[in-house]
Amino acid sequence: MTRTVSRPTRARAPLPLDVEAIRADFPILSRTVRDGKHLVYLDSGATSQKPRAVLDAERDFYENHNAAVHRGAHQLAEEATDLYEAARAKVARFIGSDDDREIVFTRNTTEAINLVAYALSNAATAKEPEFRTYALGQGDEIVVTEMEHHANLVPWQQLCERTGATLRWLGLTDDGRLDLSDLGTVVNERTKLVAVTHQSNILGTINPLEPIIARAHSVGALVLVDGAQSVPHQPVDVQAMGADFLAFSGHKMLGPSGIGVLWGRYEILDKLPPFLTGGSMIEVVRMEGSTFAAPPQRFEAGVPMTAQAIGLGAAVDYLTELGMENVEAHEKALTAYALERLAEIPGVTVIGPPDTVARGGAVSFTVEGIHPHDVGQVLDDLGIAVRVGHHCAWPVVRRYGVPATTRATFYVHSGYDDIDALADGIRAAQKFFGAV
Ligand code: ALA
Repeated sequence: MTRTVSRPTRARAPLPLDVEAIRADFPILSRTVRDGKHLVYLDSGATSQKPRAVLDAERDFYENHNAAVHRGAHQLAEEATDLYEAARAKVARFIGSDDDREIVFTRNTTEAINLVAYALSNAATAKEPEFRTYALGQGDEIVVTEMEHHANLVPWQQLCERTGATLRWLGLTDDGRLDLSDLGTVVNERTKLVAVTHQSNILGTINPLEPIIARAHSVGALVLVDGAQSVPHQPVDVQAMGADFLAFSGHKMLGPSGIGVLWGRYEILDKLPPFLTGGSMIEVVRMEGSTFAAPPQRFEAGVPMTAQAIGLGAAVDYLTELGMENVEAHEKALTAYALERLAEIPGVTVIGPPDTVARGGAVSFTVEGIHPHDVGQVLDDLGIAVRVGHHCAWPVVRRYGVPATTRATFYVHSGYDDIDALADGIRAAQKFFGAV
């Protein structure tokens, strides 16, 4: 369905993806909101909408194959297990891993990061010597950055409280980048783990992982990358990246909610004690004690999120069909256009890199004289969905001296018309609040 924006569109390069064809795959994009307005969905950074192929995969599972995986001797259990493990293999290939055992299904990025944090603190009290390999204690340090989503900050603060380790962090520059000038001292011989976001959910910055990972590994530290905002939007290859863990969410990459992924190097996962315990994750259970299965089962206690994993497999197929290079190029073109359109509006300030160099499609901004929540409300009245607030990255908004921001995020169905609608909406908010 074509949408009309009050402002005529200007000559622009064709986008790499066929937006109209893609929109037809997303049932929700044909609905209207707020008294018949077209839905302009610019909140994919919070959660993505789902194409029909993902909805169909979940429905097909429940209608035709539903059973508890890795249990039961019946045909449905066998089919469910095969579908679940096929989804694991698809996810592994999608991020460049050739070892399915390196994919642990979790609920989301947050749980994937907590899994590592709790495994590291459980290591201190593990009775099995190999599980103590990565134990932390007083004198050890964990390094994060000031750019982290709370999901990649609070678990490490808590791990430090539980173990006596110290949390250190890399700061930010005024133009929204990581300040790596003190990388060599912040990451040092005491560092046991570095946790860093690949792409900021609020600034859009894509971080230079190479020097961070090289420094961390040179002092023997592990590296966890928060890929929640990168894996859905750009090609990611864990072999090329060189980190030890990568965490990401299914719901931000066209998949269902309730499914996330922890990728970990097998030899490291194999030395970590479990996070959650119970059925499925054991080797032998006696009343006196239990031993645990090898990864990934060691980290998947209980009946897992089966339909959701299969839905994620369908999302991976859909993205692979589009081509992640095309997805990245598409969003880069949209980001460049959005930055250009926002720069034309007096009183609008983008919080984050002002150009598309090492930058993804999370565009946060403030509008002089109008609170971000009020901007969001005017946009919502026009049918435009954005996110407002501190975006679960409170230290970042504090660093840039703003109470909150309004944030637009793009995905495969986003087009220039969405950005035109956003620019018109901001002007409408300025008019409404007399801020022009
Ligand atoms: N982490 C999600 C966001 O950035 C919810 O909006």
